[in-house]
Amino acid sequence: MKKIVVLISGSGSNLEAIIESCAAKKINGRVIQVISNNPDAYGLTRASKFNIPSRIIDHKKFPSRIDFENSLEEFLDMLSPDLIVLAGFMRILGTKITSKFSNKMINLHPSLLPIYPGLHTHEKVLENKDPHHGISIHYVSSELDAGPLIAQGFIDIGKDETLKNMIKRIHKIEHLLLPEIINEICNENIYLDNNEVKYRNINLHNHKLIKRSYEI
Ligand code: GAR
Repeated sequence: MKKIVVLISGSGSNLEAIIESCAAKKINGRVIQVISNNPDAYGLTRASKFNIPSRIIDHKKFPSRIDFENSLEEFLDMLSPDLIVLAGFMRILGTKITSKFSNKMINLHPSLLPIYPGLHTHEKVLENKDPHHGISIHYVSSELDAGPLIAQGFIDIGKDETLKNMIKRIHKIEHLLLPEIINEICNENIYLDNNEVKYRNINLHNHKLIKRSYEI
């Protein structure tokens, strides 16, 4: 069974979706460790509810970004995970750590990349009256929210959509698509080869990556 480490900074609803999918055997793996850079992250409470070990590596306690990342890298090395999932992890990671784990570190981002990397993606969708919104799951590179795309989930946005409702809908599709993609990676049906995402036994329906539309 594959060893999964999940990095969080906040609520951890995606962490919980991953843990529950592992328990339900919908993911061929198990979460061996949760790491949070935020000592107050509610995800830490969720981890303890499921008896998953958690470790706080608080970036504020380090003199520089590289010191924080070196400590994170050292701990990840010790854990020797098969997959590292950034699920609501709100720190940008530099070249040294991202290149070391490039073929086993994935990130969940709440927009249809390449549009809206960074923060406030939901607000931007509403401001620009976009007809669609969605999520992206990608391998991590040192460039923010720009590593090779694995999968995207889409929702339609009506003209009366509210921010609160839209965020709720985005979370729902994250909780469906992220565990599914993690399982495919655990089963080696998705992997990175020469910085290119490869798929096995997955029908891409003529797309270059997994694209899912949700009526939620
Ligand atoms: C999720 O919506 C995720 O897409 C987003 O943070 C939220 C975390 O929710 N990630 C980013 O914005 C990363 N740039 P959660 O803590 O409830 O899983």
